[in-house]
Amino acid sequence: SLKIQAGVTVSTTKDTAALGSDIDWENIGFGIRSTDFMYVMKTDRSGEWRSGELLPFGNLELSPAAGVLNYGQGLFEGMKAYRTQDGSAVLFRPKENALRMISGAKRMCMPAPSVGDFTAAVKSTVKANVRWVPPHGKGSLYIRPLLIGSGAILGLAPAPEYSFIIYVSPVGNYFKSGLAPISLKVETFYHRAAPGGTGGVKTIGNYAPVLKTQLDAKDQGFSDVLYLDAAENKYVEEVSSCNIFTVKGNTISTPETLGTILPGITRKSIIELARDMGYKVKETAVTVEELLDADEVFCTGTAVVVNPVGSITYGDRRVTYSDGGVGKVSRALSTSLTDIQMGRSEDKFGWVEQ
Ligand code: COI
Repeated sequence: SLKIQAGVTVSTTKDTAALGSDIDWENIGFGIRSTDFMYVMKTDRSGEWRSGELLPFGNLELSPAAGVLNYGQGLFEGMKAYRTQDGSAVLFRPKENALRMISGAKRMCMPAPSVGDFTAAVKSTVKANVRWVPPHGKGSLYIRPLLIGSGAILGLAPAPEYSFIIYVSPVGNYFKSGLAPISLKVETFYHRAAPGGTGGVKTIGNYAPVLKTQLDAKDQGFSDVLYLDAAENKYVEEVSSCNIFTVKGNTISTPETLGTILPGITRKSIIELARDMGYKVKETAVTVEELLDADEVFCTGTAVVVNPVGSITYGDRRVTYSDGGVGKVSRALSTSLTDIQMGRSEDKFGWVEQ
C-alpha cells in the first residue's frame, strides 16, 4: 500500500505535459537529474515489507554499517517510461523487471517486493514525476528501482533490514555518439563474470569491476568493452552495460543465459520480435571468430535500447560492419521495438502498460 508523506503533494491531474523548453530534450544524454519524488519502502526486522511512501527526491540516511555499503548486498533494475503521441506515459514489460528482481534477490539473500507491489510502486513513482517524461520521440524517463540491505551488520551475513527505492531521471541516448554505431574492444585479460558467480543477476557488484576496463577502452578511443567467458576466453558474453547479438544472413545469434550473462528484458524482447519478423534466432555459444565473421552486430539493453556496433577490435584485428553504418537488420529491429515502446505501432505482444 502507498503512503504519501504528510506535506507532500502529488499532482496526478495537472503538470502532465513534459517540462518546457528550458530542457534541451534532444541533447540530455544519459545522466542523473533531480526529479520531484522518489519511492521508499522498508522492511521490518523480520523481513516483512511495511507500506511504501513517495518522498521528495533527496539523499538517503543509512548506517555506515549498512549491508549494502560494506558487503555489496544490493540489486538494481532499469526500466523506461515513454510518452506516447497522445501524451500519456507508458511502461515496457514492468512485470519482467519485478520477476528479475525477485530471482536476483534469492541469489543475494534478500526479500523482494511482490510483482504487484513492485509494479504499483513503479507506476506511482512515474505518475508523481510525469512532467519529467520527455515529449514523444525525445528520450524517456529512466526508472531505477534499487533493493538494498540497509540494516547495520558487521559480521558477514545478510543485513537485518532492507529498503526498496525507486528514483527516476529523464534521459536521452546512452552512448555519447548518440544512435551512431559504437566501437567495441574485446577484453582478453579481465572478465566480467565467472561460472557460479553473480553475472546472471543484476547485483550492484557486477558493475564497479568493469569501470577500469571501460575507462581504459575509452582512453583508447573505443565506446565500450566486450567481455569473453572466464573459462576459455573464447566465447562472447556481454558488453559492460548491454547484451550482444550477431547477424549472419537470416540468422541472429546471442549467447545463452547460463548464469554469467544478464538476462536482459530488451534481449528477450528482441528475440521474440526477431522470430516474429521471420528471422531464425539462436541462443547459443558465440565464438569471437563468429563475431568477427558476422554481417552485423548490435547491442541491446534498457539504457542503450538497440545500438548498432560499427566495429570490433580483438587484439590487432579490427572488423568493421556494414561499412561502419547501421545494418539493415539492426535498423529494422530497432525501429520495430521502439515503435512498440513509444506506442507508435500496435502492441501485438501486450508489452506496453499505462
Ligand atoms: C540498463 O540498461 O538499464 C542498465 O541497467 C545498465 C546500466 C549500466 C545503465
